[in-house]
Amino acid sequence: MYPFTDGSYAPKNGWYVAAFCHEVGEELLSRWILNQPVVLYRKADGTAVAVQGRCPHRHFPLGASKRVGDAIQCAYHGITFDAAGACTFVPSQERIPGVYTIKAYPLVERGLWAWIWPGDPALADESLIPDMGDIGYSLPGYHARALFYHRVEGRYQLLNDNLLDLSHLGYLHHSSIGTPDDAATPETREANDRFIRSRRIMRNTLRPAVVDWQTDFEGPIDRVSGMDFHFPGFHAGIADVLVAESHARR
Ligand code: FES
Repeated sequence: MYPFTDGSYAPKNGWYVAAFCHEVGEELLSRWILNQPVVLYRKADGTAVAVQGRCPHRHFPLGASKRVGDAIQCAYHGITFDAAGACTFVPSQERIPGVYTIKAYPLVERGLWAWIWPGDPALADESLIPDMGDIGYSLPGYHARALFYHRVEGRYQLLNDNLLDLSHLGYLHHSSIGTPDDAATPETREANDRFIRSRRIMRNTLRPAVVDWQTDFEGPIDRVSGMDFHFPGFHAGIADVLVAESHARR
C-alpha cells in the first residue's frame, strides 16, 4: 500500500455515502465522489437524485448553476439537463446534440444516508447497501442522529488505514478516548464477503478521559471498542462503556 502513488484505488461498483439525507434538499449540493464531481438535490416530489457535476459544454460546475423545476440550467450558457441526465434545452437552437448528456447516478436513501453507486448503473444492487441492523442503526433503545460532514484533506486510504487499526487510540488519543489497553488488548476479528469486524473487550480497565468528563466514577470499568468496515467505504465504530447512571455528571 505504501508509498502511495497517484490515482484512485477504490472500486467504483459499490455503494458509498454521498451525503446525509438531511443535507440533500432543494439547493444544489456539490460533492466529489471517487474523483468525480457530483451534484445532489431533491426533486419537487421529494426524490433525492445525483448527477454529474460538470456541464459537458465547457465544464462549468453544475453545482454552482440553477434549478429550473427538477432540471439544472448551467449558469454559463444556459444548457439545461433533467434529473435523469438528459439535455432538455439548448439556447438559440432546436437541435440537441447527442453528446450533451450528463451522468445520472443511482442514489438510494437508507438510514441517515444517501448512498451513491459511482460505477456502472446496471450493476447497482440495493441489497449490497450495508444492512442497517448490522451497523447498529436499528437497534432497539437507540436513537440515530446525524452529526456533521467533515472534509478530510488527505487520501481516503489513510482514513481507512486509521479506522482499521484502533491500537492508535492508546497513543494518538490517549488524552481523550483511549488508554494503553487499547493497544495492549488482543483484537478479535470476524470477516465475511460484506464486512470486517474487529473488537477489543477490556475488563477492569482504565477509564479513558472522556469517561471522567461525563461521570464521577473513579474505579476500573469494562469497555468494548471496535470497528466494522463495510465494503467498500463505510466504517461503523463501537465504543461501549457501562457506568451506573448514578455516577453521570448532570
Ligand atoms: S458550460 Fe454549460 S452551457 Fe456552456
